[in-house]
Amino acid sequence: MSRGEFVYEGKAKRIYRTDEAGVFWMEFKDDATAMNGLKRGTIGDKGVVNAEVTRRVFQHLEANGVPTHLRGQVGERDLLVDGLEMLKLEVVMRNIAAGSLVKRLGLEEGRAFREPICELYLKDDDLGDPLINDDHALALGLASQAEIDQVKALGRRVNALLQGYFAAADLVLVDFKLEFGRRAGEIVLGDEVTPDTCRLWDRETRRKLDKDRFRQDLGGVEEAYQEVLRRLVAAHA
Ligand code: TMP
Repeated sequence: MSRGEFVYEGKAKRIYRTDEAGVFWMEFKDDATAMNGLKRGTIGDKGVVNAEVTRRVFQHLEANGVPTHLRGQVGERDLLVDGLEMLKLEVVMRNIAAGSLVKRLGLEEGRAFREPICELYLKDDDLGDPLINDDHALALGLASQAEIDQVKALGRRVNALLQGYFAAADLVLVDFKLEFGRRAGEIVLGDEVTPDTCRLWDRETRRKLDKDRFRQDLGGVEEAYQEVLRRLVAAHA
């Protein structure tokens, strides 16, 4: 399989065609952004870690019945994926209070919720990805009610699977973001699951091992990304 025509560049990835129709080459970049693009930088070898973590996580999800766009890995920072008709939605799952929810609801960071929280956000950079509910998604034609029910159910299922997957590596899955698309009428998990899109804390010390180190200028950013990959490799040989 070879890399073909350039299609699209996002904040963290570049997409190319391949010689197979409907199959795309996803290159993970080292570029990092935060605060809706206001803060920019580079995290050394982030693309390598994120491609490898996404491949491992998506293989684990597939093995447990969650359909994903993953086809395979073709380079240290390159995955092959099925083209999806992406929903203009982000699904965020939260187990522990952190990030925007701490501010919105006046919570103490680190408080464990009684039940996981599932949230929907509109994918719109100009608006800063606002929080929406089912009615907004339906009214704006972003998805059918059946699809909304499905992405929420998949969000909860992925959360349960990944809490265990990361716990085996002594990592607490605080919260994370998923993106879904349609493939021949079926809802399929797309995009990535990485330290860019998850909050992961060390189980013992609660040290942050994710993009919050970049967002909050905590230092040790590269080391944290490498540590997550190292632990996942050790825990899931
Ligand atoms: P938040 O607390 O900033 O709303 O983020 C919740 C989780 O979703 C966190 O793990 C980071 C992830 N996330 C993304 O991956 N991309 C985004 O655009 C946003 C807003 C959050």
